[in-house]
Amino acid sequence: MGKLEEIWMILSVSVLVIFIVIVGYQTFALGMGPPSHKEAIDPQKVDQTAPFDNPGLIDLGNNKYELVMTLEAFAFNPGNIEIPVGSEVEFTMTSKDVSHGIQIPGTNLNAMVLPGHIQKITQTFNEPGEYLVLCNEYCGAGHQAMFTTIIVK
Ligand code: CUA
Repeated sequence: MGKLEEIWMILSVSVLVIFIVIVGYQTFALGMGPPSHKEAIDPQKVDQTAPFDNPGLIDLGNNKYELVMTLEAFAFNPGNIEIPVGSEVEFTMTSKDVSHGIQIPGTNLNAMVLPGHIQKITQTFNEPGEYLVLCNEYCGAGHQAMFTTIIVK
């Protein structure tokens, strides 16, 4: 093997090893791995499966809430939620039928909600106001009517 070949071989293997180490560190040490299949659910039995058998806003204290929410054509359940300013809300969501999305314009909250999967996303609401919550994934004839609000006051 020529000297140059050897150098290139060492360089390219080193780059691979460095990338694997960085990705491994981010995934295992910093917990930045992509969502896994861990939190799956039988999409036929959402109404019978905790916590989705009892959707609603749960007060965890210290201005923290968990919002257990189901999405279905063409509604968010529960809808029209009211929370105090500064609330940190962990959304725990699943779909009862087809693929939906949830987006709250003016915030970073934007996610797909798929049948058979539990979607979790946390958002803090520091500004009072009425927030529009909408479905941003085409889900059928009533897609454009699938929205609700979160009132922060
Ligand atoms: Cu649900 Cu579009």
